[in-house]
Amino acid sequence: MFVNMAVLELMPLAIVLHLTSIDLDHFPFYYLSGTRRILNSRVKPSSTNARREAYATILHSEDVYVCGAIAAAQSIRLSGSTRDLVILVDETISIHYKNGLEAAGWKIKKIKRIRNPKAEKDAYNEWNYSKFRLWQLTEYHKIIFIDADLLILRNMDFLFTMPEISATGNNGTLFNSGVMVIEPSNCTFKLLMEHFNDIRSYNGGDQGYLNEIFTWWHRIPRHMNYLKHFWTGDGEEKKSMKTRLFAAEPPVLYVLI
Ligand SMILES: *[C@@H]1O[C@H](CO)[C@@H](O)[C@H](O)[C@H]1NC(C)=O
Ligand SMILES: *[C@@H]1O[C@H](CO)[C@@H](O)[C@H](O)[C@H]1NC(C)=O
Ligand SMILES: *[C@@H]1O[C@H](CO)[C@@H](O)[C@H](O)[C@H]1NC(C)=O
Repeated sequence: MFVNMAVLELMPLAIVLHLTSIDLDHFPFYYLSGTRRILNSRVKPSSTNARREAYATILHSEDVYVCGAIAAAQSIRLSGSTRDLVILVDETISIHYKNGLEAAGWKIKKIKRIRNPKAEKDAYNEWNYSKFRLWQLTEYHKIIFIDADLLILRNMDFLFTMPEISATGNNGTLFNSGVMVIEPSNCTFKLLMEHFNDIRSYNGGDQGYLNEIFTWWHRIPRHMNYLKHFWTGDGEEKKSMKTRLFAAEPPVLYVLI
């Protein structure tokens, strides 16, 4: 019941995003011809080791993203993916919520959260380094990480053919850590854990830290991680571009934040 309620709440949003067709060439932020060809082609590359690939997310420190994570799982299944869904949860997530997550299809992995030693106590970013535990999922070769509050609109299993780290750009130089292809490795995990004291994260969170470690990364188009800050601050032209984008059927966007 719990599961269905959360999904129902979010479904209208997904449906709203399925209306008319749109030409990708009109998006100025869309500048990667290789991935663009993949996105536009009917036949997408597929990997041969599906059993060792998973979508993963994480909940740490609070319950607020539980409903989001349930909707995220359902949206991945609706996109047609059959990959494992793995969720890392720390001790702050109650059994009641864990049951709901499991019913939604997530495999639960309990983790010990990781404190950012440079964060203030009880600050918004105190436990964000817990995300590094994704690299400990070594039973998988490849992980598509998604933030727990994202909605998947189109199947994006073809991202499993891409290397670590593939992500969308936050700007010209930095990637956004909300959607990332990563390759679990105990060695990389160790590397991430070893530099807390010498690396300064520009935003105090995992994104700034990961961008210092992975300075070489692969850019995937914005359609794979699209921020829906709808119309605030947009001019007429941008507004109508976004209206067409959100309304595209079949969907043009893969992921909506
Ligand atoms: C991207 O953002 C970072 C952090 O705010 C900044 O240091 C960098 O100069 C920006 N890069 C570009 C190309 O705007
Ligand atoms: C990574 O480390 C964990 C224990 O810390 C171990 O169980 C796992 O087998 C290791 N993975 C690999 C691929 O060595
Ligand atoms: C840290 O994590 C919290 C909870 O997941 C999230 O709301 C916040 O945006 C993150 N902040 C940074 C800077 O990564």
